[in-house]
Amino acid sequence: MKKKSLNIEYLEYDSVTDLNSEERELITQADENLKNAYAPYSKFKVSAVCKMEDGGVVKGTNQENGAYPSGLCAERVAIFAAKSQFPDKNVDKIVITTEQTTRSPVSPCGACRQVLIEYELAQNQSIVLIVKSGDSKVWKFKSVKDILPFAFDGEFLK
Ligand code: THU
Repeated sequence: MKKKSLNIEYLEYDSVTDLNSEERELITQADENLKNAYAPYSKFKVSAVCKMEDGGVVKGTNQENGAYPSGLCAERVAIFAAKSQFPDKNVDKIVITTEQTTRSPVSPCGACRQVLIEYELAQNQSIVLIVKSGDSKVWKFKSVKDILPFAFDGEFLK
């Protein structure tokens, strides 16, 4: 028997102002996009911005539904939109913000992590994740793998 452990590194910024100008701008764009969330049931608005390799951005917000499971999180709306419009362009970064200030920045739910890692592996380039909620601190992860260790992926199907 071997005892093993994992160490996950991420950056915590006390303020958005500590990020570089490109990342600050992406957070501003994500925050401005919060108004497009459709969250009449939870009232919890989430916005996600994918920064593509060519500098373009593709945005998404959570889209809820009266039949609750039919709704979709902002991260999946954004990355599905990005990869359906620009299948050959890599996603460099995804920035996720919420309107509410929460106890910590809101990082993607399990299903979104699974979707994000699919594209990270397919494009063979890490996707940087930046998350911020309300006036909270900011967390930055260098790869989706850091928030989904032991991920299942298509390789297991071969
Ligand atoms: N939500 C997201 O859009 N992203 C997350 O990472 C967490 C949760 C949405 C789903 C639902 O519309 C609302 O937030 C409350 O769960």
